[in-house]
Amino acid sequence: MCGIVGAIADRNIVPILIEGLRRLEYRGYDSAGVAVLNSSGHLRRLRTVGKVKMLQDAIVETPTDGQLGIAHTRWATHGVPSERNAHPHISRDGIAIVHNGIIENHEELREELTSLGYTFTSETDTEVIAHRIHHHKQKLGDIFRAVRATVAELEGAYALAVVSEDSPDRIILARAGCPVVIGVGNNENFVASDVSALLPVTRKFIFLDEGDVAEIRRQDVRVLDAEGNTAHREVRESALSADAAEKGDYPHFMLKEIFEQPRAVAQTLEERVAGGKLLEAAFGPLATEIFRRTEAVQIVACGTSYHAGAVAKYYIEQIARLPCWVEIASEYRYRNPVVPKNTLFVTISQSGETADTLAALRMAKQSGYLSSLSICNVPESSLVRESELVLLTRAGPEIGVASTKAFTTQLTALGMLVVALAKHHGADAERERGLVQRLIEIPGLIEKTLHLEPTIKELAKRFADKHHALFLGRGQMHPIAMEGALKLKEISYIHAEAYAAGELKHGPLALVDADMPVITVAPNNDLLEKLKSNLQEVRARGGELYVFADPDSGMQSSDGVTIITMPKHVSHFQAAAVYSIPLQLLSYHCAILRGTDVDQPRNLAKSVTVE
Ligand code: G6P
Repeated sequence: MCGIVGAIADRNIVPILIEGLRRLEYRGYDSAGVAVLNSSGHLRRLRTVGKVKMLQDAIVETPTDGQLGIAHTRWATHGVPSERNAHPHISRDGIAIVHNGIIENHEELREELTSLGYTFTSETDTEVIAHRIHHHKQKLGDIFRAVRATVAELEGAYALAVVSEDSPDRIILARAGCPVVIGVGNNENFVASDVSALLPVTRKFIFLDEGDVAEIRRQDVRVLDAEGNTAHREVRESALSADAAEKGDYPHFMLKEIFEQPRAVAQTLEERVAGGKLLEAAFGPLATEIFRRTEAVQIVACGTSYHAGAVAKYYIEQIARLPCWVEIASEYRYRNPVVPKNTLFVTISQSGETADTLAALRMAKQSGYLSSLSICNVPESSLVRESELVLLTRAGPEIGVASTKAFTTQLTALGMLVVALAKHHGADAERERGLVQRLIEIPGLIEKTLHLEPTIKELAKRFADKHHALFLGRGQMHPIAMEGALKLKEISYIHAEAYAAGELKHGPLALVDADMPVITVAPNNDLLEKLKSNLQEVRARGGELYVFADPDSGMQSSDGVTIITMPKHVSHFQAAAVYSIPLQLLSYHCAILRGTDVDQPRNLAKSVTVE
C-alpha cells in the first residue's frame, strides 16, 4: 500500500526522504515521487514508475535538494501505474500533496473543480484534494485552514501530507482511516506512514488520532482534533532499532523472517507464561473477567491472519469447548450477523491497519459483543488502540509481503488465548501446565524443522516448472494447507489450491495427474489413517505425492510418493505452527528458482489500508 514520508529540517532532507521510502518499500507500490522546496523557495517535483532506486537515479541526474519536502510510494487504485498518476500531486501556486487511502466522493468534487476552471493532469482521486486545498486557500488565505476545510468535504479514507511554496516553514498532515505518524527530532520533525521509515532519524513518535489535522514546523507540532480543538498527543519512544528492518546476511527478508521464527515465537511467550501458568493479565486488566464471561468467540481477519484464526477455531472448540466462528473481514463487515450472548470478538492482524479488519471491529463494537480482543504485531496500530483487550505478537517488523513469522507468532498468541479460555471453562491446573508446556516447546520444534531447508531446497526443483499444485490437510491442518497454497501462489505465481483431504473426491480429484503435485501435511493425529486413505485416492490416479509426515506415521517414500520426515513428538497443539515451516521454505525456494520478486511480489501490498 502507499507510503508517505516528509521532513522539515535545517539540513538537506532528500536523503532522509529516499531512505524513508526505501524502508516503506515492503508495503508494496508501483511508482514513487518526491517534492522538495529548494533554496530559491520553488517546489521541485520528480516522479518515476518502478522502484525507489529509479527515483534515486533520477535525483542523481537532476540534482534536487532542500530543507522541506514530502515523498511517496504509490500503489495504484484510481488510474494505472504511471508517472502522471504518481504522487506528489500539485495544484496552482506551488501546493503539493501526497495521499494514502481512497476518496469516495472524488468524482463529484472533480466535476465542481472542473467547472471552477481547474485542469487535471492525472486520473487520481488525490489530485482532486490538491485543487480543493488551493480553492479553499484562496478564500481562507492559510494552508492549514485550507486543509481543514478540504478534509471536511472528503468521504473515504486518507492520510495526507501537504506543503506549499508560500509556507516554507511547515508541513500539514491529516488523518482519517489511514495511519500516519510524526517523528520528533531535535530542531527537525518528520512524517511517515509508519515508524520503520524514520528509525534512522528518530525514536520519538507522535501518533495522530482519527480526524486529527496537524501542523509540523522545525521546533513545534500543533494538533487539532476532529472537532477543531487543540489536542495533546503524547510523544512515545519506539523500542525498535534502526536495523530491525534490514536484511543482514540474508538474500531476502522472507528468508530472514522464516529463520527468525524460533526467536519471535519465544519472545511472544516471554513474561506471559511462567511456572506452568498463563498470566492472563497479559491480555489487559479486564481480561480475567471477560474470559470468565465468554461463552463464544467470533474471529475476523484477512489473508494469512485469517488462516491463523481458522486454526484457532479447532483449538478453541476442542480444548476450551466454546463455539467459535471465523470469517474473512471483507465478508463479515457486510453481513448483519446475529451475535450470541457473551461472544468475544477477536481480530487478528500483522499490521493492525487492514481496512476491512478495522471496519469489522468498529462495526462489532456497535453490535453487542461482550468485548473486543486484538492479536496484532504493531503496538501503535489502530486495531490495538481501538480494542479493549490486546495481545501483541512480538515478531518484530515483518517486511516480506508474504507473512511468515507474523503467522507463527499469531498461532502462538492464539494458543495463549485458548489456554486462557480453557482455564475458565473446565481446564484444571494440570491441564493448563500441559498446554503451557506445549507452547514453550514450539520454538525448539521450529528450530529443528528449519534444518530441513537443504532437503526442501532440492525438492523445490521438482515444482519450479509446474503450473498448478494441490495442498491437502485435515482438521486444523486444513488451514495450514490453505496457508501453504497462499504462500506458493503469492510469491512463485504457481496456481495453488488447498482442500480438506476428505473433500478431494468431490471435485478436485478430477484435476489429479502426473503434472499436478499434491503436497500434504500429515502430523500423527487421529485423522492420520483417514488422510492416508485420501492419499491412496491420489496415487491411484497417478498423482505425485509430497508428504510432510511425522516419523511415527508409518509412511515411507515409494514410487510417486516422497515422504519428508518432520521432527518427532509434535503434539496436536503444536502441529499447526511446526508444519507451516516447510511450506514457507518450499514456496520461498520455488520463487527463487522462478526468479520472482520474493519480498515484493507483483500486484500485492503488505499493509492493505484500502477496502
Ligand atoms: C495483505 C498481506 C498479507 C496479510 C494480509 C492481512 O494481503 O500481503 O500478508 O496476511 O494483508 O494483513 P494483516 O496486517 O491484517 O495481517
